[in-house]
Amino acid sequence: PTDAGMEQLHSLIRDVADWPKPGIVFKDITPLLADPRGLALAVEMMANPFRGQGIELVVGAESRGFIFGTAIAQALSAGFVPIRKPNKLPRETHQLTYDLEYGQDTLEIHADAIAKGQRVLMVDDLLATGGTMKACCDLIDRLGGEIAGVTVLIELDFLKGRQKLKPYDSVHAVLTY
Ligand code: PRP
Ligand code: ADE
Repeated sequence: PTDAGMEQLHSLIRDVADWPKPGIVFKDITPLLADPRGLALAVEMMANPFRGQGIELVVGAESRGFIFGTAIAQALSAGFVPIRKPNKLPRETHQLTYDLEYGQDTLEIHADAIAKGQRVLMVDDLLATGGTMKACCDLIDRLGGEIAGVTVLIELDFLKGRQKLKPYDSVHAVLTY
């Protein structure tokens, strides 16, 4: 990870003031996703610390967690498990409702998505209050998965999401604001 690489990633993320609500500065990653080198670099930097760690499954939350989650799963030769918004998964699910930076949401995972003891890497684009990531980790815990790590592209440090993830040793953020 070079300084030039980090600089390039920073330059591909736009701040959008007062969206989706007054007072929120939204980190818009769509320019980064549209840039071939930026996208590849982001995936590589999110995945690299977890190479050789025996990750069997990558889990990502709808919607932006899917974008990086599947790419990182391929980079680590792991499978991918989606955590979805309510009433999207067809079989038996576990469900959790939680708070996020600008509202409340519910997420679901298939009850049979993870076998007991499987080593899981949890992926999302951004860690804000940590509500989403904590809910996802709780769902993985419930299924008996072992959370080997958490990786995000962006951490909003001032919202202290990392504190909610204390039980997990390996929380990796590529860019911190
Ligand atoms: C965003 C982001 C994270 C979450 C972070 O998702 O992709 O999942 O918020 O916020 P938190 O740390 O305060 O929970 P959002 O709920 O906006 O859904 P989207 O991925 O469908 O855009
Ligand atoms: N998810 C939660 N807070 C966010 C923010 N400030 N920008 C982009 N996505 C977010």
